[in-house]
Amino acid sequence: EQKLEFICTFSPAFDKLLGGGVPIGKITELCGAAGAGKTQVCMQLCVNVQIPETFGGRNAKAIFIDTEGSFTSNRIIEIVKSTQNLLVDRFNLTNREELIKHNFTVEKVLQNIYYYRCSDHVQLLACFNNVKVLIEKQPSIKLVIIDSLAYPFRFVDFKDSNLLTMKTNILNNMMTIAYQLITKFNLAILITNQMTTRITRDSVSNVSSSNLVPALGETWAHSANLRILLSWRNSKRQACVCKSSYLPDMSCFYKITERGIED
Ligand code: GTP
Repeated sequence: EQKLEFICTFSPAFDKLLGGGVPIGKITELCGAAGAGKTQVCMQLCVNVQIPETFGGRNAKAIFIDTEGSFTSNRIIEIVKSTQNLLVDRFNLTNREELIKHNFTVEKVLQNIYYYRCSDHVQLLACFNNVKVLIEKQPSIKLVIIDSLAYPFRFVDFKDSNLLTMKTNILNNMMTIAYQLITKFNLAILITNQMTTRITRDSVSNVSSSNLVPALGETWAHSANLRILLSWRNSKRQACVCKSSYLPDMSCFYKITERGIED
């Protein structure tokens, strides 16, 4: 088996949980309820994938497919500035000149995030096809984010079998493309997913947190190589490995601060 490469999150505990970071060459799913921190982790990774190789990064570019409208460039700017400070400290640089020399500046980082905004499933599929063409032209793209995959399907009524078939077909189509991308271009795909209520005969009238499961159902559940559940309780944020062929089922705590993701 080929040795895995990673994109780090900057929380050492989270990276350890992931075996080093978000794996390149695999599809990772981040699931969790609204406010769990999925978008924040995605934005941090868009910055981290661009860190120059001399400073332990991948010197690569990112694609961000935003279906909920949660991406903000102001937050990216904030994360880049704190990442620059962290690198200056960690590598004992006298100032930011060294980072500027390696093009790790706010302007370059913003330029190297290809941002797409899609609001429904039709746009999402079209966008994903487009992304494939872009990656073929730009092999320096090492991270593709879809935040989130479930939201564009929110209007699909699970009682309408035609709509359900269409949803399954679109998801299968996208996953076929995703597998082609990770194998051909050795990049990381990071997909966020919401939590939904499990529909069982007796759960309809008894909605509790234990009935919450990742959205998009069983077929999708087999598509990701790695499923991480984000949750928070008493102001503590937790990440937990739910499904992986190579990681133990473990959890860790991490923080979201003005600096980004940290321990
Ligand atoms: P949905 O998109 O609603 O499904 O949620 P999500 O899981 O993507 O959550 P998101 O990543 O938006 O994280 C929300 C949490 O991150 C908030 O509760 C805030 O605590 C924190 N957060 C979001 N934006 C910022 C920010 O700009 N600065 C800081 N310090 N924290 C932020």
